[in-house]
Amino acid sequence: MEQKEFDKKVAIVTGAGQGIGLEIARQLALQGASVVLNDLDHDLAEQGARSIRNEKGNCIACAGDSGDTGFIKKMMWQTIKEFGRLDIAIANAGITLFGDFLDYPESAFNNVLRVNLGGSFFLSQAAARQMKEQGSGGSILFTSSVTGHQAHKNLAAYGMTKAALEMLARNLVIELSGSRINVNCIAPGATLTERTQHDPDYAGTWSRITPMGRPATTADIANAALFLVSDRAKHITGQSLIIDGGWTCISPSPF
Ligand SMILES: NC(=O)c1ccc[n+]([C@@H]2O[C@H](COP(=O)([O-])OP(=O)(O)OC[C@H]3O[C@@H](n4cnc5c(N)ncnc54)[C@H](O)[C@@H]3O)[C@@H](O)[C@H]2O)c1
Repeated sequence: MEQKEFDKKVAIVTGAGQGIGLEIARQLALQGASVVLNDLDHDLAEQGARSIRNEKGNCIACAGDSGDTGFIKKMMWQTIKEFGRLDIAIANAGITLFGDFLDYPESAFNNVLRVNLGGSFFLSQAAARQMKEQGSGGSILFTSSVTGHQAHKNLAAYGMTKAALEMLARNLVIELSGSRINVNCIAPGATLTERTQHDPDYAGTWSRITPMGRPATTADIANAALFLVSDRAKHITGQSLIIDGGWTCISPSPF
């Protein structure tokens, strides 16, 4: 039988019922991984996992809030029960709550921090404990953003969490390299997803201001993610890979 790059690997991808996470989960499963697909939305999680199984990928849904530490424990337990191990953890779930800095509500601030930072921190902690116990290394990936590199209007809290994730990856180099666990980030630029396509001007605006002439597709982002969690990237750790068609080199404002 044909060898696939992620044969025998087990992966968790959070926030994967649609958009970037779904494409990462799909590509991993089609390349041989057994995937636990998480989403807050039960129907999207089930639907995403089913669509991957329809393409002959091995995937189960695990619906719940990736920002809740109790749920992270449950998801880890379910992963080990179903697949017996964990090799790859991708903390992809992130929420974007836009708002003027001067009026930004405390509730939105706390929510953005809880999901984007808390969810990523505690998923990586639980995953690293499991990987360390297994003794065969592993890969952790955080989904950052170009907003962690370049200031964006109305995204102070969101951008701050994305920059923090990149520092977390660098910190974990000290904590986890001894267990042969590498930790990296992808930093997508404007990407066409169900969410961003709600804005009818999105594709046009970003095509105009992106040097490569178009926003990213979810496949552009998933390609980079798969490389960073593959054995080909085992000597890369603490890094962030920007996938933005060159936008951050010049950063023209979309507004
Ligand atoms: N789309 C972009 O242009 C873009 C650009 C840069 C970075 N990002 C980042 O990429 C990641 C994915 O973005 P997207 O646009 O594909 O996602 P999205 O906003 O479409 O959300 C994907 C899924 O995450 C789920 N989700 C939300 N909160 C959750 C939670 N607490 N627990 C579990 N699931 C949850 C949603 O139900 C949704 O199905 C995010 O971290 C986002 O910040 C996206």
